Amino acid sequence: MNNKEVVLSGIRATGNLHLGNYYGALSKFVKMQNDYDCLFFIADLHALTTAPDPNALHENVRNILAEYLAAGIDPDKATIFVQSDVPEISEMYLLLNMHVGIGELMRTASFKDKARKQLGLTDDGTDIEKQIIGTDSNKRVNAGLLTYPTLMAVDILIQKAHKVPVGKDQEQHLELTRRFARRFNSFYGVDLFPEPENFNFGDHAVKVPGLDGSGKMGKSEGNCIYLIDEEKVLRKKVMRAVTDEGPKEPNQPVSQPVENLFTLMELTSAPEIVQSYRDAYADCSIRYGDLKKQLAEDILKVTTPIRERYHDIRNDDAFIARVVRQGAERARERAAKTLAEVREIMGIRKFY
Ligand code: TRP
Repeated sequence: MNNKEVVLSGIRATGNLHLGNYYGALSKFVKMQNDYDCLFFIADLHALTTAPDPNALHENVRNILAEYLAAGIDPDKATIFVQSDVPEISEMYLLLNMHVGIGELMRTASFKDKARKQLGLTDDGTDIEKQIIGTDSNKRVNAGLLTYPTLMAVDILIQKAHKVPVGKDQEQHLELTRRFARRFNSFYGVDLFPEPENFNFGDHAVKVPGLDGSGKMGKSEGNCIYLIDEEKVLRKKVMRAVTDEGPKEPNQPVSQPVENLFTLMELTSAPEIVQSYRDAYADCSIRYGDLKKQLAEDILKVTTPIRERYHDIRNDDAFIARVVRQGAERARERAAKTLAEVREIMGIRKFY
């Protein structure tokens, strides 16, 4: 593993994974694990910034672990771990925070968004700082939410990761990570942290659309196909996907909702099948019901083996325990090394 570039990515432990997560991330992780020194982890501490429900948290961590494994991440190739199993992360988070400005954290888009949500406010043009300082202690924005980017930077820097495959919505966090890395290196005159970059998948960066005719598939949009949806549920969802009235004349431009179904088909169906439906659209013979049936079938070909393995793994406590213990050991060994360097550099030295 030694000379390979380090790839690291995390996922927050909230809810189950959907087809967008699969095509956008998981399926790529499965390929990358052969070529890179990969670390994939479940960010349970990050999940606490927005959804502090103890029972749900533990179950969510287990679900995502089982989904990672079921989708083909191999614990003998990649390091799979739970963030909270690596206490070095928490210590370094405290240390790095000493070099992070509250102003730059407050300017982060995801912070403003989530802070307003926690306060039940909308963006009415008032500065977020004023809105926050004006609130009392029943309605509060927790400090963990503010320092979310510090924790994420530590996840990355403590493993000295070079490449971090994340979606567009995480680009700003990655930019902050680079800034913190540069700042630390230059403040102490060291060359400790590499500046991590987003993993570029080239032109194949897929945007997986949802079933509601609008944009991206997303947990909060309620337009998802989950990897573990039962057959019946999945079929029903696809059959109910938004379409339009159908083409009225040959070679009519395709509306967004229908194009979304074609995009999903391109991800899951054989090229000839997609072409046959494109042709049927062009000559107005298409029946959306048939297209949806086909699409549901082809999605199930992808998800069924994952769902089946998921249930097996989820019930195998011993296997899960073995995987995360091994992952934690590997992740901790590396994290402990970096933390020791950071402590030394910052002047935290022992007298005994
Ligand atoms: N913030 C990321 C998200 O919401 C999850 C995450 C936490 C992460 N730590 C990370 C991603 C480190 C990549 C690297 O998706």
